Formats: sequence, structure tokens, C-alpha cells
Amino acid sequence: MNTIEYRESSEMMKLKNANQIQIVPSILSADFGRLAEAVQAAERGGADSVQIDVMDGHFVPNITIGAPVVAALRPVTKLPLDVHLMIESPNRFISDFVKAGADIITVHIEACTHAHRVIQQIKAAGVTAGIALNPATPAVMVQELLEDVDLILAMTVNPGFGGQAFIPRILSKIRTLRALLDRHGRPHVPIQVDGGISIDTAPLVVEAGARSLVAGSSVYNPRNSVADAIKALRTAAHTGLAAKAKKSN
Ligand code: DX5
Repeated sequence: MNTIEYRESSEMMKLKNANQIQIVPSILSADFGRLAEAVQAAERGGADSVQIDVMDGHFVPNITIGAPVVAALRPVTKLPLDVHLMIESPNRFISDFVKAGADIITVHIEACTHAHRVIQQIKAAGVTAGIALNPATPAVMVQELLEDVDLILAMTVNPGFGGQAFIPRILSKIRTLRALLDRHGRPHVPIQVDGGISIDTAPLVVEAGARSLVAGSSVYNPRNSVADAIKALRTAAHTGLAAKAKKSN
């Protein structure tokens, strides 16, 4: 049995308050020949963490990054590394990504035969544990995990590629997940969204209850600097908070 170094980062994603916004660039849209620079640009630009999309060509129709790339990126940043596993049987690879330096590991409920066991496996390594739902997966599928997970990722596109269109129907699922978490006494557990997040969709997902916003093509593109993109997303997200506050007054 490999020894896994114990880390104290299961608080990594915990919301400090209900209105804390986390901006998480996804390097899937970055220049793969210059990933270290892309991660450092996110850190300089004020990102809260950086997402690394791991795809196996089975769970999703694309193949991207493995644990060796995570290990290569670990020394180039102090930012938390948020590893999104879009792979089958993720339980087989948790220790590889923990050893590589992941601070957050999110697995898909659709890829886990024993989701509760996999979440415990991640937490036992002291790493923040997230559960992800594909667009077609209803919120109720994670109901039995609400007291265990540190993060819930509601995919706002079908996983596999960057640059896809946001699916508006997921807004009601975000509201349902937020209500479920609050009813279970877990207001500090963030809902993360991923896919089609831009300055247009950020206010919508935040108003619905999301607080961690993953963005790839709206951050890494030739039209803007990474820092400007992160700033614009954070500003847009805050307009979502203002809209929610106005509605509840
Ligand atoms: C897609 C990935 C996303 C992707 C988002 O399966 O999980 O993180 O990079 O890219 P955009 O923001 O371009 O939709």
C-alpha cells in the first residue's frame, strides 16, 4: 500500500461567508505547450484556484491530462490545484493525484459505483472532496453525500470540451442543490459550476446559488489578458449577488 502524505486542505473550498465568490480558471483552454505560464498568469491575475481537467477518452469523448502533468505544475504555483476527474473508476487513481499535489479532487457521481467510499478515500488523504453531476443527472443523486462532500460541481455543459454553450436549464438544479445543502446544515459548502461561464452567465449562476465559477475559454483567449478576464468575471458575479439581494428584500 503506497503511503500518502497527509494534508490539511479539506477546508480549502469552504466558503468564508455566503457571498464569497471563487473564480477558477480551467487550463483546458490554455496553450498546452505553455501550461506553467497559464497557471502563473491565473495566480498573478487573482484566481482563487486553478482547475485541471482530467479526461480518459471513456467517461468523456476526449483525452487530456494525467497525474504527471499535475505533478509538473505543482511547484509553479501556490494556488490550490482543483483536479476535475472525468474518468471511469476514479477510485483507482486517487492516490496518484494526491501524490501529484492535488488540493481538491472532484469525481463524477456517474463514474462511481461506490461514491461514498471514493469521497471517504479522498478525504482520508486530507484533500478537499467534490462530487460532480452531468447536466442530465438530477440533484437527488447526491442526496446521500450531502454531509460528506466539501464541494458540489453542477456541470453547465456536457463534459469533454471547452467553448461549449451554457445550458440554462441547470439554473434550477443549482437552486435545488443550494436548498438541499442548506437544509442539511451545510451552508459553507460551495456549489461550483463549469462550462459556458462568462460575464453574461456568471450573474445568472450566482443568483441561483453558485459561488465557485470555473471558466476556460472566457479566461484563456487572445481577446483579453487573464487578469482582466478574472476581474471581469468577478465583477459580473457580484452583480448576481446584488440581483439576489434585491429580490430577497
Ligand atoms: C469541460 C471542462 C471545463 C471546460 C470549460 O468538460 O470540464 O472545465 O474547460 O470551458 P469553457 O469555460 O470554455 O466552457
